[in-house]
Amino acid sequence: MSEAVLLDGRRLATHIEESLRAEVATFTTMVGRRPRLVVVLVGDLPASASYVKAKAQAAARVGIDAVVVPVAETASTADLVQLVERIAREESDPADGILVQLPLPARVDATAVLDAVPPDRDVDGFHPENAGLLSQGRPRFIPCTAAGVQRMLIDAGIETAGRHAVIVGRSDIVGKPLALLLASRGTSLPGMPAIGGDATVTICHSRSRDLAGETRRADILVAAAGRPGLITADMVKPGAAVVDVGTNRVDGRLVGDVAFEAVRRVAGWISPVPGGVGPLTVAMLLSNTLLAAELRLGRRSFSAATRP
Ligand code: GUN
Repeated sequence: MSEAVLLDGRRLATHIEESLRAEVATFTTMVGRRPRLVVVLVGDLPASASYVKAKAQAAARVGIDAVVVPVAETASTADLVQLVERIAREESDPADGILVQLPLPARVDATAVLDAVPPDRDVDGFHPENAGLLSQGRPRFIPCTAAGVQRMLIDAGIETAGRHAVIVGRSDIVGKPLALLLASRGTSLPGMPAIGGDATVTICHSRSRDLAGETRRADILVAAAGRPGLITADMVKPGAAVVDVGTNRVDGRLVGDVAFEAVRRVAGWISPVPGGVGPLTVAMLLSNTLLAAELRLGRRSFSAATRP
């Protein structure tokens, strides 16, 4: 039996970075400074540290200044809210984009901290104003992983209109925004052709009764549950596009939610972990950061945003 086509997120992210590098250079020449991203990193979770490092390195590659602000694990909700507010007030070296790396320690009220990020600098797209705009079909900052999944489908020429997309996972970060994107009328990432939407979308979660029955009906199956090996070959319709958003550490290795070796023999397309959605999440963050910088300076109105 033939194997699935590999959805190579690294290759696509490199391509996106190349075009962003040129746009960032234009911005920097016109405005006299680079776009600037400030990342708040709380505590010392190795996974968070490595994601933040990847974000900062990618920013540097395209000419965006990225500053990481490390914060002690013991910081309170009030400390973090004040820190974000202080970063937002800074005028001499303004932050175009502000990102608080998740997860925050369990004692911290993450919602309060994320809500402190001004919505026009919220490059993660987590603020309720940005979530609301997306739900109304007029997105400003689209959460990076959801945008990355949609971009991956578009790039591979995978039709979504009229197809059945099943998303396993209902998080605010991935499942919910991706469901909105895939179901939107003639949706597009800002600046992309009106493709990547018009799907019939099912959201599954831990209380779904017949998960395998649902996933087997999927033309496009997105696994974003955070459970290694959750999606097995018998849960996949032959020829389906399977996108793996899982980032689980098992014995020190990064693995997805999909049993890759078995599923690749059934699926039509499959994204690997690592090297699938992850690099695209980072590329979309860079794209959102440039968009934020341009919006701040009035170089772009967000309804007319034309960003990949
Ligand atoms: N942790 C895991 N994914 C993400 C993300 O997309 N943004 C932030 N801020 N933290 C994360």
